[in-house]
Amino acid sequence: MNKKCVGIIGLGSYVPQRIMTNKELEQRMDTSDQWIVERTGIHERRVAAENESTSDLATKAGQKALEDAKLSAADIDLIIVATASPDMVFPATACVVQENIKAVNAAAFDISAVCSGFLYAMITGSQFIKAGMYRKVLVIGAETLSRFTDWSDRNTGMLFGDGAGAAVLGETPEGYGILGVDLGADGGGAELLKIPAGGSRHPATNETILQKQHFIHMSGNEVFKFAVKVMGETTLKALKNANLTASDITYLVPHQANIRIIQSAAKRLGMPMEKVVVNINKYGNTSAASIPIALDEAVKSGTIKSGDIVALAGFGGGLTWASSIMKWCK
Ligand code: ACO
Repeated sequence: MNKKCVGIIGLGSYVPQRIMTNKELEQRMDTSDQWIVERTGIHERRVAAENESTSDLATKAGQKALEDAKLSAADIDLIIVATASPDMVFPATACVVQENIKAVNAAAFDISAVCSGFLYAMITGSQFIKAGMYRKVLVIGAETLSRFTDWSDRNTGMLFGDGAGAAVLGETPEGYGILGVDLGADGGGAELLKIPAGGSRHPATNETILQKQHFIHMSGNEVFKFAVKVMGETTLKALKNANLTASDITYLVPHQANIRIIQSAAKRLGMPMEKVVVNINKYGNTSAASIPIALDEAVKSGTIKSGDIVALAGFGGGLTWASSIMKWCK
């Protein structure tokens, strides 16, 4: 068994300047600020500027994480970008980031696990370090879901926002870093959350555009039920792998999809909401970016401190889920 301890040694995040409030959405769809706040916890979200794409947000978050880790881009051996809204079908957004930051020694690839993407990427990246192949890995969750959101559809349009969060992974002192993880998927639920066209199944045609098949389609109630069930379950599995219990968690940093999903996960784990990091009110659901943005804010504000046991948990399209228990070491 490999005893090498791996964890996050630098964090950074970036959100676009433009704020879109619920009031603004009232002009675009049949909804109200009150409904959105009560049913989702979202007050506003960020929207990328016309000249900004996912790689731009990812680059800014990645640069901040490098600064935080006191490393230069040349120190990075691998870049993994988790995104459901890449710049292009190919090349990988990670390659665009590699060029932007001049990480000349880094391999680069993307991971597609939608909102679970950051945790899928972090756990994948940590394995390269544990195996001894790489020393420093830059993992970024970045999205411009605004480009795939139908602002006239009240079933989806109020939920999503743009942003990016990044973490540098490296070796940590013994007993710190990632203590236990869980990854899972249920492809049987693939139809519940998808962008139907633009891939090889339904390439772009005039019809796919007219039918709005390039936007996010979601069975909200089904996804909600799945999320409520899986968030607690995956966290408990990762805790078991770490030989810990829910009462050991100092802070839970959940995927920010809906405040009611977050509250039910906290309840399942027997945790008061004071121990749960929440920023959905400011950013909505930024998919793969939501966990690293929330984590970065909680660490930079001094909420999460060295020695804390931090649980990260997410779910998303696929369907997918993932969690990680960490002993914070920065
Ligand atoms: N504004 C006003 N009214 C609305 C809106 C809206 N935006 N949306 C729905 N309603 C109405 C409905 O028409 C319905 O009215 P009725 O009672 O007269 O029929 C009522 O509000 C309740 O509708 P529900 O769909 O039951 O609303 P619910 O409380 O389930 O909330 C929501 C819907 C917010 C979409 C919820 O189901 C949800 O959060 N689901 C999970 C979504 C999610 O997390 N997706 C992301 C996954 S992560 C990823 O991989 C991208």
